[in-house]
Formats: sequence, structure tokens, C-alpha cells
Amino acid sequence: MAKVKKAFFCNSCGIESPKWFGRCTSCGEWSTCVEEVVSTTPSRGSSLGLSSSKRVGGNGGRAVAVQDIERSEVVRTSMSYGEVDRVLGGGLVAGSLVLIGGEPGIGKSTLALQIALHKEDYRVLYVSGEESAEQIKLRAERLGIRNNDCLILSETMVENIILQASEHTPKLLVIDSIQTLYSEKIESSPGSVSQVRECAALLLKFAKESSTPVFIIGHITKEGSIAGPKVLEHIVDVVFQFEGDSSTSYRILRSIKNRFGATSEIGVFEMRGDGLHEVSNPSEIFIPQHSEQLSGVAIGAAMEGARPYLIETQALVCATGYSVPQRSSNGFDYKRMGMLIAVLEKRLGFKLGQKDMFLNLVGGFKVADTGLDLAFVAAIISSALDVAIDDGICFAGEVGLSGEVRPAIRTIERVEEAARIGFRTIVVSSYARKSIETVVKKGRINVIYVGKVSDLARQLFSNE
Ligand code: TYD
Ligand code: MG
Repeated sequence: MAKVKKAFFCNSCGIESPKWFGRCTSCGEWSTCVEEVVSTTPSRGSSLGLSSSKRVGGNGGRAVAVQDIERSEVVRTSMSYGEVDRVLGGGLVAGSLVLIGGEPGIGKSTLALQIALHKEDYRVLYVSGEESAEQIKLRAERLGIRNNDCLILSETMVENIILQASEHTPKLLVIDSIQTLYSEKIESSPGSVSQVRECAALLLKFAKESSTPVFIIGHITKEGSIAGPKVLEHIVDVVFQFEGDSSTSYRILRSIKNRFGATSEIGVFEMRGDGLHEVSNPSEIFIPQHSEQLSGVAIGAAMEGARPYLIETQALVCATGYSVPQRSSNGFDYKRMGMLIAVLEKRLGFKLGQKDMFLNLVGGFKVADTGLDLAFVAAIISSALDVAIDDGICFAGEVGLSGEVRPAIRTIERVEEAARIGFRTIVVSSYARKSIETVVKKGRINVIYVGKVSDLARQLFSNE
């Protein structure tokens, strides 16, 4: 009888330890130790280094001078969805391992199946450990089948999956999800740290050896990280997060890590009854269709990766009924909100200490773009004074601690996008004047330049 061997793992970084620990010696996290049963026989290729020679390739472990290394062209395959290709950095690279994380029910399986079904005559092996083949067939019919070469496999044993993949030689392998897979070499249950690690390592080996790209779907924990160890994020080439507010139908595919492209790109989709639809022009959905003008609303010209878009920012400022005012922010960095409040208090003399304040970005969108500062400041002032901002005006600028308005990165593209959408006026930093005046055609859009937040308050709200 095989002797049961147990080991301790860190849930966060995946490191293995022979004894229990309170704090992980590797990543420093507390209370992340889990005990798991592992097999007595050391598994082949269980270490993550297994593929290092494959990954680097070619030189049999010898060092070579950089100028002597032959560069093979990276071949990218289009997924026939522009939004997916954009986030991938121009298409899917052969042999790459792509992890798609997201909360349950957000639409990961739908996205993966749509990708599998959309490209004509493209052999895909779609493996599901969560749904039966009939269930997938039903969903596939709803989504529309264009690809007649999509194979479905309902299986959870990773060795079998790899066997099937080697037999059918698909051009893309999809795994839904890594947490349902298990390897026969490991005795702990599917979804445990050691299983996730082992299965990912075997899939990585398959991907690199056969040059087959693999999409792996991974569930997300309450804390927002991909369940299973961080190790998973380290070994894959690309990490995507599929996110969105479950109360809205918009979904964003965000690249968190990409060895073959930029990480700031996003793909925007709308979930409808017949699956996900691409939103190639996000500005049109994130701009409100209010019939009347409302205070506390300002349109920001934002930038995500190489794509500018316009989005509505909202603020609500009102007298507090508590000793400590309430502050909350949806989609905008909470600490940055605190900074903007401090700037408004200090530089404009706004008394916000006794006010509740709520900030919101429409569409369940989250941004890290500091170029939206100016729009939020305008929305806060508008709400505090209860004066609506004219529609047809939008904002792009970063606010500094001394109340100065700095140019948002790539201001020109934002101005161009605002003009394209039909905005009459855009408010930007006066430091961007020179470049805008030389590039943006006169008469295309009226540009207001502000150097400080006090200029903004004067220019927009002083008549009332
Ligand atoms: P799913 O892809 O199963 O989510 P995940 O794999 O991330 O858990 O999608 C779940 C939701 O998507 C489900 O609540 C229903 C919705 N949905 C649609 O609105 N339209 C569709 O065509 C499909 C397939 C799903
Ligand atoms: Mg699913």
C-alpha cells in the first residue's frame, strides 16, 4: 500500500514546506498554510522548472552571445475577435499559456466557448470539467457555431486531456477550469494547491512541446486573486482578468500580464441573450443619455492602453448625518479620492469635512487612469454647488497636490476622441497647450486650458 505523504503549502505563493508555518517564509503572508496529501512517488515534472529548457529553447543549456541568437518571428494567430486580439497584443502566440481569471458567473466559459466556435475551420479542443458535453452543445447552439472543427471533451483528469490533445492535435486547447482538474500522480483533491500546480505544470509542458496555445480558465477568490497559488500567474505567459459589475451587462477583458504585448490593453464586451458582443467603441456606451442636465456629472476623456474613450464620472456631495462623514468610491481609487478632497479643501477653501461624498464611474468600470482626476474634481464641485455642467464639455487632466492641473498622458489622443464623439469643448491642462495647438486642427473642438483647480472653478462655475 502506498504510504500517504503529506506536505504543507502556502496558499498564496504555493511554496512547499515539510512542517506547518504561521507565516510563509517565502512571501511573508500570514495564515496561508494548508496541509495536503501528496503522493509517495515523486511526480515527474512536478517541479516548475521542468520546462525551463524548453521555454528558452535551442542551445542545450549553453550560454550564447546575444548577437548570435537567432530570432524566430513570433507568429500570431487572430482569434477573429478584434477585442480579444487587441488584449493579446495582436493575436495568439503559438505555445503560449493564457490564464483567464474572473468571478463565477461573469462569463468566462461563454467567452472561451465563443472564441472556440467563432473562427472558421480552426481545430479547437474545448475541455470542460464543469459541464457535460450536452450542456456545452446547448450553449454552443445559442452562441452560434461557425467553426465546424470544435471538439468538446468533458474530462477532469489532466493526463487524459493531454492524451486526447496529442491525438487530435488541436490548434487551440481550452481548459475550463483549472480548479476542476486533477492529476493521478497527486492524491489531494482537485482545486488544491498541489493539484493546481501540477496540472498547470503538465499543461505548460504540453503547450511548449507541441507549440499549442492553451487557454486556462481560473476562478477567483473573494480577495480577487486567482484561486490556487500565485505560482500559476508566474508560470503562464499571459494573465487576463474578465471583470464587470454583475448588475450591468458590460464586461472587460483586462490584461494583467503579457509576455508578448502591452498589459494596459482592455477589450470591452456586452453580455446579451445570445452571448458576448464586442464593443469596439466604448465611448458610445459610457456616455449618458440624460434628457436633462444633472449636477455632479462630468465626462472624462480616459485612456486605457492605446485606446481613448469617454466615460461619465459622478459625484454626490451632501451634508453628513454622522460624526464621521461617509466616503465611498466605485471604480476610482479610494486613496486618490482622499487626495482630491484634500486638494479641494486646501486650494479652493471647500469645506468638505462635514460632507458625505460618493464617487462613481458608470458601467461598473474601474480605472487607474489619473487623467480622470479633472473630471472627478469637476463632478465634485458641480455636486457641492449643485450646478450642472453643460453637456458637450469633457475633461482630461491629472491633479497634483498643490492643485495644479497636469497634462494627462496622451492628451492629444483624448482630445481627438472627444472631437470625434462630438463634444464641443474639452478642458485640459494649460501645460498641454503647445502640443495641442500644433496637432489638433483649429475649429475641430474648443479647448479650455486650466493651470490650477481654482481656474477650473472660476471658468466653469463662477457665473452662478
Ligand atoms: P458563464 O460563462 O457560465 O460564467 P463563468 O464561466 O464565468 O462562471 O456565464 C454566466 C452568465 O452569463 C450566466 O449568468 C448567464 C449569462 N449568459 C448570458 O447572458 N447570455 C448568454 O448567451 C450566455 C451563454 C450566458
Ligand atoms: Mg464557467
